[in-house]
Amino acid sequence: MGKKQTKKITRPEVLIKADMAAMAATAADLLVKTAHTAVGRYCRFTMALSGGSTPRLLHKMLAEKPFSERIPWDRTHIFWVDERCVPVEDLSSNYGMAKRDLLNRVPIPRENIHPMDVDLPPEEGARKYQEILTDFFKLKEGRFPVFDLIFLGIGRDGHTASIFPGQAALEEKKLIVHVKGGDPFVDRITLTLPVLNRGRNIVFLVSGKGKAEIVRTIFEDGSDPPPAARVEPLFGRLTWILDLGAAALLA
Ligand code: 6PG
Repeated sequence: MGKKQTKKITRPEVLIKADMAAMAATAADLLVKTAHTAVGRYCRFTMALSGGSTPRLLHKMLAEKPFSERIPWDRTHIFWVDERCVPVEDLSSNYGMAKRDLLNRVPIPRENIHPMDVDLPPEEGARKYQEILTDFFKLKEGRFPVFDLIFLGIGRDGHTASIFPGQAALEEKKLIVHVKGGDPFVDRITLTLPVLNRGRNIVFLVSGKGKAEIVRTIFEDGSDPPPAARVEPLFGRLTWILDLGAAALLA
């Protein structure tokens, strides 16, 4: 009888940086390496972006030399971890933010950018994105997309993506769901934990002393883990990139 297959728990890598600029440079370096590995293996690089304010400096850095010249944009496909159901022009739009800070400034083919459709009613938008993922990743029934790189943030309540504490999305087995919550408190579409946990490289970017308490909670392995603590890669690598403020309460 073969040895019982136990889940391989790989410890996350924790990188503590002096400030947001150092965090962004570290994340950009990791992105370049991951992109080239992915293109070498799969002839393409798939990445899912989160929203919020933390990733903005990274996005701007990727749009400028040296990073803008190191990324294989023609082979790069960009998806979103979640989206607020607001117009693209709205400052709280995750896609709108990435367009302004990054996508309008680099030579990525238009067809390589895969935003969630916020012009549809949210349930329909979620269904449409599931179709987009199913088609792009050629998913069979019951299978999940595997992204080469997923960037995540966390809220002070421990949410990640748009998976909020106490909401049904936490236990969702589908690829993507419509939720309502967060700040701004709006309709959202979000990838679910089964998708996030299949990322080959999952990277949390967390900045500021306002997040120190929730970071400590997440790392404490407590009995009632917040959503961000439920991100446990099934086979990929998990990296936390923190600044000194966010890491202030880690032992
Ligand atoms: C969203 C994000 C969300 C974000 C955190 C952190 O669309 O709201 O995906 O999960 O990463 O709320 O946001 P800040 O970076 O603004 O703190």
